[in-house]
Amino acid sequence: MRDKIEKILSELDNVKAQTEREVEDLRIRLLGKKGEITALFDEFRNVLPEQKREFGQILNKLKNAAADKIEQLRNSLVDAPVSSGSKSDMTMPGDPFELGSRHPVSITREEIISIFNKLGYAVSEGPEIEDDWHVFSALNFPPEHPARDMQDTFFVTSGNDNPILLRTHTSSVQVRSMEKMPLPIRIVCPGRVFRNEAISARAHCIFHQVEGLYVDKSVTFADMKQSILLFAREMFGENTKIRLRPSYFPFTEPSVEVDVSCNICKGEGCNICKGTGWLEIMGAGMVDPNVLRACGIDPDVYSGFAFGMGIERIAMLKWQVNDLRHYFENDLRFLKEFSTSF
Ligand code: PHE
Repeated sequence: MRDKIEKILSELDNVKAQTEREVEDLRIRLLGKKGEITALFDEFRNVLPEQKREFGQILNKLKNAAADKIEQLRNSLVDAPVSSGSKSDMTMPGDPFELGSRHPVSITREEIISIFNKLGYAVSEGPEIEDDWHVFSALNFPPEHPARDMQDTFFVTSGNDNPILLRTHTSSVQVRSMEKMPLPIRIVCPGRVFRNEAISARAHCIFHQVEGLYVDKSVTFADMKQSILLFAREMFGENTKIRLRPSYFPFTEPSVEVDVSCNICKGEGCNICKGTGWLEIMGAGMVDPNVLRACGIDPDVYSGFAFGMGIERIAMLKWQVNDLRHYFENDLRFLKEFSTSF
C-alpha cells in the first residue's frame, strides 16, 4: 500500500495536462468511484489497527494533494490562452484615463454667477417653456410689439390671449420672482433662451443668458452703474472701463447698452472691437414702474434695476472666440482649450 501511495504522489508531481478532458480523465482515474485513491481507501479497511492512524493520515494527505493538483491544472487551463496569447501583456502600462473639461459656456456662467454672489445676488431659475404673460405682457411689451412676432419667438400654442412659447429671455424668471419673493430682491437668472434667428457666427436660435434684478427701496441708477462696473472689472480685468449708451427696452426706463473697453487692444482699436476700442456686453436699465406694478410691487415705494447678458457673447469676448457656432458643435479640440477653477 505504501508503494502505491508513493507511486501516485510522484505521478502527481510530474503530471501535465493540456486539455480539460485530460484533467477530467486524471480526476476519474484517481478520485472517481473506481479510482486508484478510492481503491486505496477500500484497502485501508484491511490495515492493522496499530497502523490505521499512520495510514489514515497519509491517505488523507494523498487525497487532498490529488484534489489540489487537479484544481491547479484546471486553473492553469483557464489562464492558458491569456498568459500565452498575444492579446494582453500584463507589463504594459494601463489605458490612459482622460479627464474631461467643463464647457466654456458653463465656465463663464459659473464665473458670472460667482461675481454676483459676492454682491449678495442669489440664483433664481424658471421654466424654459413659458407663457406670454411672463415673457412679454408683464414686462410692458405692448400687444403689437414686434418681438412677439413669429420672427423672433417660437410659439408652442397660439390663438388665445396667453399663448405658450419658448422664453426669449430669462427676464421671465425675474417676473416670477417679483410675483413670489419677499422684497428686497437681489437675484441672477441664468438659463437657456430661444429665438427664431438664422444661425450664423454671431447669432444662434438657442443661447444662454444671465439676467439680474435688484429691487429695494431707493435703488438708483448710480447703484446700477457701480454694480456693472464691478462686474466688468472682475470679469475682464481691473483696468476695464465701462461706457453706457442710451437704449430702449420695454421693461426698463431709462435703458442703456453697456460696453467695456476692449481687453485685447486696451482701447486702441483692433479687429475684435472693429477699431472702436469698445465691446458691447449687456443691456440694462431701471425697472419700468409698469413692470413693478404688473408684479404687485408699489413703484412709489420701491425701485430697481435689471440687466441681461448673453453668456456665449461674454465667453467669446473673454477668450476671443470668433464664431458662436463653436460652442454648439462639441468638437473636443475646441472644448479642451478651456480649463479653469470653475
Ligand atoms: N432681456 C433683455 C434681452 O434679452 C436684456 C435686458 C435685461 C435688458 C434687463 C435690460 C434689462 O435682450
